[in-house]
Amino acid sequence: MDGPLLIDRLAFDPEAERRELMAGLLREPASIPPKYFYDELGCAIYGAICRLPEYYPTRTEVELFQARRLEIAQAIGPGRQFVDLGAGDCCKAKGWLPFLEPTRYVAVDIAMHEIAAALERMAPDFPGLELAGVATDFSRALELDGVLTESPALFFYPGSSIGNFTPVEARSFLARVHRYCVARPGSSLLIGVDGKKDKSLLDAAYDDALGITAAFNRNALRHLNAKFGLGFDVNGFSHVGFYNEAEGRIEMHLESLREQSLLLDGQERRFAAGERIHTENSYKYAPDEFEAVLRDAGFGSIRRWDAAGVAYSVFHAA
Ligand code: AVI
Repeated sequence: MDGPLLIDRLAFDPEAERRELMAGLLREPASIPPKYFYDELGCAIYGAICRLPEYYPTRTEVELFQARRLEIAQAIGPGRQFVDLGAGDCCKAKGWLPFLEPTRYVAVDIAMHEIAAALERMAPDFPGLELAGVATDFSRALELDGVLTESPALFFYPGSSIGNFTPVEARSFLARVHRYCVARPGSSLLIGVDGKKDKSLLDAAYDDALGITAAFNRNALRHLNAKFGLGFDVNGFSHVGFYNEAEGRIEMHLESLREQSLLLDGQERRFAAGERIHTENSYKYAPDEFEAVLRDAGFGSIRRWDAAGVAYSVFHAA
C-alpha cells in the first residue's frame, strides 16, 4: 500500500491572515486566535499539558473511553471512514481502530508536521488501512469536500476541543458536521465535552504549578515573532488563566508586565502595564446545555456517557 495521502488546505490567503492577526492585536482589548498555540513547540507543550496532574480532561476521557469502549463502538457501528478532527499525534484515535474497523482513517489538523509524522508512525501498525491527513484550519471552516468518500463517516472530536469555540461558533461548526452526516446515511459524531465544575479545579487545570500552561500560552508570542516577523518580548508577558463562572468558560490571557510597545505593520501598539491580550476561551458545558447545542446543530439521536467522579461527558450523536 502507498504511504499516507497528505493534503494541504492551509494556504488560504496569507495576507488576509496577517490582516486579521494585526486587527486583533490593535483592538482593545487585544486578542490572538488560539490556533497560534500550535506550532511544533506548542504541540509538544500541549502534549505535556495533557500529562499534568492538574489537567484532568485528557486522562478522564481516556479512562471513560477505556471503560465504555465496547458499548460506544456498538452504538457507532463498524466500517465507517474515521474522521479525526484535531487529530494531533493521532494517539486518541488509535485505541478505537481495532474496535471500529474503519474503512479509512482521515486525520484533520492545523499542524501538518504533527499529522504527517503521526501517520508515518501509524502506518506499520495498521497495514491495509488507508491513511490520509488533511492540514486545515477548521476553526475558520470545515471543508472536507473531495476528501471524504460517500460512505458513512464517524466524526471523532475528542478532548473537549469544542470548548475552544464560542457556543454560537460551536453550533455552526456542529451543524456543518451534521450536514456531512446527512449526506452519508449511517454517519455520526463522537465528541468529548468538559463539564462545569468547581472553580478551584478549573483554575488549577489552566494555571498549573509547573508553569507548563504558562509556557504554552507565552509560546504563542514566540510563534508569532517567527511566523510574522513581530517583535514581542516573550519575557514581557505573564500567563493568566482562570475560570470565569459567569461566562462558563476558562479564559487565558497574556498580561503585559510593564509598559511596552511594538510595531505592527508600521503602527505602534502600546501595552500598558497590566494590559492583557486574550488568547483563548475554553467553554464548559453542563450535560443538558451541550445536548441542546447538538440538537440545535440538527442531531436528533443522542447518547451520553459520563465519567466517574469528575464532570466530563462523551456524546454520540446521529
Ligand atoms: C485543545 N483544548 C481542548 C485545550 C483546552 O483545554 O481548552 C487547550 C488548552 N489550553 C490550555 N490548556 C489546554
